[in-house]
Amino acid sequence: MKRLVVVPLFIFMIWVGFSGSVCCQRPSAVNIGAIFTFDSVIGRAAKAAMEAAVSDVNADPGILNGTELSLIIKDVNCNVFMGSIEVFQLIEKEVVAIIGPQSSAIAHTISEIANGLKVPLISYAATDPTLSALQFPYFLRSTPSDSYQMTAMADFIDFYGWKEVIVIYVDDDYGRNGVSALDNALENKMTELSYKLSLPVHFDENDITVLLNDSKFLGPRVYVVHVNPDPRLRIFTLAQKLQMMTSNYVWLATDWLSATLDSLSPMNQTSLHNLQGVVALRQHTPESVHKKDFLSRWSKMQQKGLVSTGLNTYGLYAYDTVWAVASSINKLLNEKNITFSVSDGLIDRNETDMHLEKLKVFDGGNILRRKLLETNFTGLTGQVQFDHDRNIVSGGYDVINIDKMKIHTVGYWSSGLGFSSVPPETLKGKKNDSSEWDQKLQDITWPGGKTERPRGWVIADDERPLQIGVPNRASFVEFVTEEHDSHKIQGYCIDIFLEARKLVPYDVPYRFEPFGDGRSNPSYDELVRMVANDVFDVAVGDIAIVTNRTRIVDFSQPYASSGLVIVALISKNSSAWVFIRPFTVEMWCVTAAAFVMIAVVIWVLEHRVNDDFRGPPSRQLVTMFLFSFSTLFKTNQEATISSLGRLVMVVWLFLLMVITSSYTASLSSILTVQQLSTPVTGIDSLIASNWPIGYQVGSFAYSYLLESLHITRSRLVPLGSPLEYENALRKGPSNGGVAAIVDELPYVELFLAKKTDFEIIGQPFTRSGWGFAFQRDSPLAVDMSTAILKLSETGMLQEIRKRWFCKPKCSGEGRQSETHQLHLMNFWGLYLLCGIITLTALLAFLLRMVRQFVRSSPSSPSSSTTHCSQVIYNFFNFIDEKEEAIKKIFTQCENPQINVNSTRSTSHDISV
Ligand SMILES: *[C@@H]1O[C@H](CO)[C@@H](O)[C@H](O)[C@H]1NC(C)=O
Ligand SMILES: *[C@@H]1O[C@H](CO)[C@@H](O)[C@H](O)[C@H]1NC(C)=O
Ligand SMILES: *[C@@H]1O[C@H](CO)[C@@H](O)[C@H](O)[C@H]1NC(C)=O
Ligand SMILES: *[C@@H]1O[C@H](CO)[C@@H](O)[C@H](O)[C@H]1NC(C)=O
Ligand SMILES: *[C@@H]1O[C@H](CO)[C@@H](O)[C@H](O)[C@H]1NC(C)=O
Ligand SMILES: *[C@@H]1O[C@H](CO)[C@@H](O)[C@H](O)[C@H]1NC(C)=O
Ligand SMILES: *[C@@H]1O[C@H](CO)[C@@H](O)[C@H](O)[C@H]1NC(C)=O
Ligand SMILES: *[C@@H]1O[C@H](CO)[C@@H](O)[C@H](O)[C@H]1NC(C)=O
Repeated sequence: MKRLVVVPLFIFMIWVGFSGSVCCQRPSAVNIGAIFTFDSVIGRAAKAAMEAAVSDVNADPGILNGTELSLIIKDVNCNVFMGSIEVFQLIEKEVVAIIGPQSSAIAHTISEIANGLKVPLISYAATDPTLSALQFPYFLRSTPSDSYQMTAMADFIDFYGWKEVIVIYVDDDYGRNGVSALDNALENKMTELSYKLSLPVHFDENDITVLLNDSKFLGPRVYVVHVNPDPRLRIFTLAQKLQMMTSNYVWLATDWLSATLDSLSPMNQTSLHNLQGVVALRQHTPESVHKKDFLSRWSKMQQKGLVSTGLNTYGLYAYDTVWAVASSINKLLNEKNITFSVSDGLIDRNETDMHLEKLKVFDGGNILRRKLLETNFTGLTGQVQFDHDRNIVSGGYDVINIDKMKIHTVGYWSSGLGFSSVPPETLKGKKNDSSEWDQKLQDITWPGGKTERPRGWVIADDERPLQIGVPNRASFVEFVTEEHDSHKIQGYCIDIFLEARKLVPYDVPYRFEPFGDGRSNPSYDELVRMVANDVFDVAVGDIAIVTNRTRIVDFSQPYASSGLVIVALISKNSSAWVFIRPFTVEMWCVTAAAFVMIAVVIWVLEHRVNDDFRGPPSRQLVTMFLFSFSTLFKTNQEATISSLGRLVMVVWLFLLMVITSSYTASLSSILTVQQLSTPVTGIDSLIASNWPIGYQVGSFAYSYLLESLHITRSRLVPLGSPLEYENALRKGPSNGGVAAIVDELPYVELFLAKKTDFEIIGQPFTRSGWGFAFQRDSPLAVDMSTAILKLSETGMLQEIRKRWFCKPKCSGEGRQSETHQLHLMNFWGLYLLCGIITLTALLAFLLRMVRQFVRSSPSSPSSSTTHCSQVIYNFFNFIDEKEEAIKKIFTQCENPQINVNSTRSTSHDISV
């Protein structure tokens, strides 16, 4: 069963005509050895092929004329130990070369023996690439190395664009080293050999079943099978039983499968049925007359019952190998007699009873090796030549596809030319390289019967739906949570996921798994870690994309933008006396003093020259101050006459202009700009301060504040819900609350939509987004990202957001205009003042009316009322006088000439 049993060929040089010949007489026979496993797919074909080759060589007078080539075959039955023993037995018989072994594991061992005894080994079936090492100079390979085959396989996988591959191999030298060559080749194509599933060397059906059943849940569905030829094709039979030969699956096999199929003759229909859709490689051998003749000879032999097996490519290589050896011996004999000598250095013969003295070193070994490497002839497999790695120069591979119970060759691969649908030798003349050559294969029918390229992986199936971890939020449940009663998982994030899933071009069965107890918000870092640790396949929720998390999982594109912001309490400017606030007390005092001073100064400068400033002292006083205050409004004021007065006025008016405009500006800023109750003005002042800072339980804000901003742990206060936010902010830093809360923008917007006394301070100081977390390199992440981008471009994201968060109105919309409006509250002090004065004036008016009424009807006053009414009467008299005076002043202001006389007399009085 071992794949490549090298037939040990013993070249026995028997000098039969020794005594009779004079010089350079050729021996009558030369022994070559062959070791392989007789009862194996390759061995059966190779045995018949080698025997045919030996008889052809002996029948051909052009080669080894007069010398008979005799082949000594030994069965090693896939046993490394047996293989070594057989080699010694062959060497005893003085073989000049050994054809074989078939198995790579045996080849490793006996190559060392061949080195020691200088007997070339030519294997037509041991494909382990490591045998090309310089360690084994006497090992030649007349079949392509697996590193060549794996390059073809990797090219094929890349041709179809699969990025993840599972390989099933037997865990021996052949399997392991072949897979490692595949791994290297795939790496060059940026493709990952995700899983290497090994089978024991003598695997049974149970081993395969367990391995295949487990591999169903791995994800990739591209299988490369690299095992020893198995005529029962158990792997595919069992895969069929496990429903793994269906669409979605890709089955690729190395040349073991084609060798097996070619040797199965007549073809077992059941086996072919199980292979529906499989793609395999077969060493390419160009069509030729020589090959055709041999094939028809083979089928005649089959009909006669001389051979029990079909001819596979390994048989062709075995045939050519015998010819290569024969022609090399022929060339050797032209130069040298065949001699063996005992090497004392090699074996201390006195130490053992094993008759090792029979082991002799082949003197011509090195020359024969060189002759072999110089081989250049056209055989059944095409041109037979060895490259500098001592491997045959290969003609490439056929790509075969099993469909409708038949083997179809769908194309060819050769290094340099890549894939083509015509045999590579027909392209050879044109020096076109693969980049110029149209890379194409005929249509391949995949398992399940479809011709379109299978995706090559599944993220989940009905047997094992995608496990989606969902944060079970306790606050801000609009984003995502598990309903308490119905246990339904719902929220903004869930809606986005479901919409995006519709745009993923394949079915994704899933199951939501709430994470968290529902009483407090779960730790999002923990959730992400569970995705990385394979507890969940995906995490869907309001998961911030931060560096720490991207190290362990892959995120989709963000579906919502986020960022950390600071929220603090604002004090609404509800003070009624806000109009006082633009100036400090000192400012107010100085301003008032300035008015008085200007009044006095102008009076001093003007009263002598300006009639307006004359009159009785009381009137002058009133004029003086009215003048001063009316400068504020630049109306109704007496003209200044003196030049000094005018100078003072100019300066004063300029000062007033500056002061009033500053007042206006300051007042409007006080009224429109929100005043914060804390002195926190941004993240820097928050860091520098010593106040406690609130954060949301479970949020990444905690570790961010702790590690990136170096805020001490004791200052961080966990807050679970909007209610706790509100209470903590209202209490303030000094009463066990917090000065500010650092949280992500979407939560804060939701919080602020319901509460009006809080405000975001400054801009978000980090920028990030929310995405879904996938396991590393999950192909679903890419498709989800595409879906999210599509949602975003079609406006669906915004729509979902509105559905959840804009039931009354969207947060942030009405709020902005509101903050710039002024409320009555801001001005009720002024209104109050104005009202009091107006009411007082009205009252005074009413009282005067009463007094007039009392005066005009002097009824008999009772003793008690007389005194009272007298007081009122006197008061009104007083008011009356004052009023009269004021009225006069106003009249005079309006029409100064009319009252010139009275004014003059008054001012005169004062001046006296
Ligand atoms: C082969 O050898 C025989 C005699 O030994 C000789 O007559 C014959 O010409 C040789 N043939 C070739 C092709 O060398
Ligand atoms: C395959 O594995 C699943 C679960 O691991 C198990 O239930 C089932 O029985 C297995 N099937 C076979 C054929 O072993
Ligand atoms: C074909 O192969 C199947 C299993 O591989 C076997 O059961 C059946 O007997 C074979 N049929 C023939 C005709 O060899
Ligand atoms: C081969 O052996 C014969 C006799 O032993 C000898 O005469 C002849 O020279 C040898 N030939 C070579 C090439 O060594
Ligand atoms: C081996 O033994 C023989 C006699 O038994 C002796 O003559 C010979 O020298 C020994 N050779 C070595 C290498 O020891
Ligand atoms: C091999 O033989 C072919 C013709 O048979 C020749 O064209 C080619 O150059 C040879 N190659 C070498 C390396 O000698
Ligand atoms: C490549 O092939 C095309 C057509 O097959 C031919 O026209 C062109 O000359 C070739 N280029 C080279 C460099 O041989
Ligand atoms: C980053 O991850 C490490 C290890 O998981 C953890 O100790 C650290 O707190 C995390 N830092 C942030 C900023 O999340």
